[in-house]
Amino acid sequence: MIRAFDAFSLPLLRWLDPEDSHRLAIQGLKLLPSARSRPDDAKLAVRAFGLNFPNPIGMAAGFDKNAEVPDPLLRLGFGFVEIGTVTPNPQTGNPRPRLFRLERDEAVVNRMGFNNDGADAVLRRLAARAHLGGIVGVNVGANKDSPDRVADYVKLIEMFAPVASYFTVNVSSPNTPGLRDLQAAAALDDLLAKVIDARERVREKAGDSPVLLKIAPDLSLTELDDVVHIARSRRVDGMIVANTTLARPPTLREQARAKEQGGLSGRPLFRLSTRMVAETYVRAEGAFALVGVGGIDTGGAALTKIRAGASLIQLYSSLVYKGLGLIDSIKRDLASTLLRTGRDQLSEIVGADAATITAEDWPV
Ligand code: FNR
Repeated sequence: MIRAFDAFSLPLLRWLDPEDSHRLAIQGLKLLPSARSRPDDAKLAVRAFGLNFPNPIGMAAGFDKNAEVPDPLLRLGFGFVEIGTVTPNPQTGNPRPRLFRLERDEAVVNRMGFNNDGADAVLRRLAARAHLGGIVGVNVGANKDSPDRVADYVKLIEMFAPVASYFTVNVSSPNTPGLRDLQAAAALDDLLAKVIDARERVREKAGDSPVLLKIAPDLSLTELDDVVHIARSRRVDGMIVANTTLARPPTLREQARAKEQGGLSGRPLFRLSTRMVAETYVRAEGAFALVGVGGIDTGGAALTKIRAGASLIQLYSSLVYKGLGLIDSIKRDLASTLLRTGRDQLSEIVGADAATITAEDWPV
């Protein structure tokens, strides 16, 4: 059924304006029949952050910003879904057009600017589906005009703790001016201290919610040293590596579109974000697990990300070009690799290539 859906919808969705086609995809997913998908191969199960993931493939943040379709996405075979970024107050984001396809590069540039329905509306939706289970993470951010950005994160942790399987503290979106400054050492230390404190405060009432930090792929290695050191000392549960990049690799073919302001994602982000996964992995020294995201569009790319140090992976842009069949195809490739190499679990290969990758020339 998914193959038929892809065959019909991919050409149609690619023909429309990117944001209209995203809207249509969300509406289409709401109509997905509610039959559960096949159970995953037990070899694909991953335990991380105290959670049991049925498979390692997650829907990255930004697709379902408002928690409209977490359950259809889980039924399509994702092992987990990250909704958001959510901000305390509703926000319209930047003026359109703000989403661009770089077809020949299988890439996307976006400058959405945290358009979302706001915390109250999103919380209502998550509360209404909470009994269904499944791993649904909540990605949190600050309002553009907030007088106190740290207070925005704290408020969201307190509000969403009862319904969030985990939190992602997003300090890496390039489209809210100044947001990435929260990655600087002193600001990050203060933010994480308050976020973890909020999580502890609500733990008794709301249960445990792991806190992950999502970073930009554009940090220098010295900045990454600080970020990982602070994440470890504040005892975050994991990191997501990485968000979109402000860089524009010289190899991009769609040069005109590449000049649009915003964050680049998709295939051209793969090498840089994989390098950052490996660099983060060697610095984390096993203190916490990583989610690898950026340009994953085949089973081979997923495997490379895992061998670089990712216990779990997420994807977004490749779905635009490859369709929903990609999820099953990655799962099949991962399972057959495990079988062929006589391994029982993906955890046996996490980080196997991290040292080699960090010794390579810097990707351009
Ligand atoms: C994103 N991404 C994103 N990330 C995030 O933390 N909060 C967000 O609101 C968004 N919004 C968003 C919108 C659009 C249109 C895109 C394409 C991406 C980033 C996303 O989660 C992911 O980190 C990057 O896209 C890299 O992965 P892919 O797309 O190369 O698989």
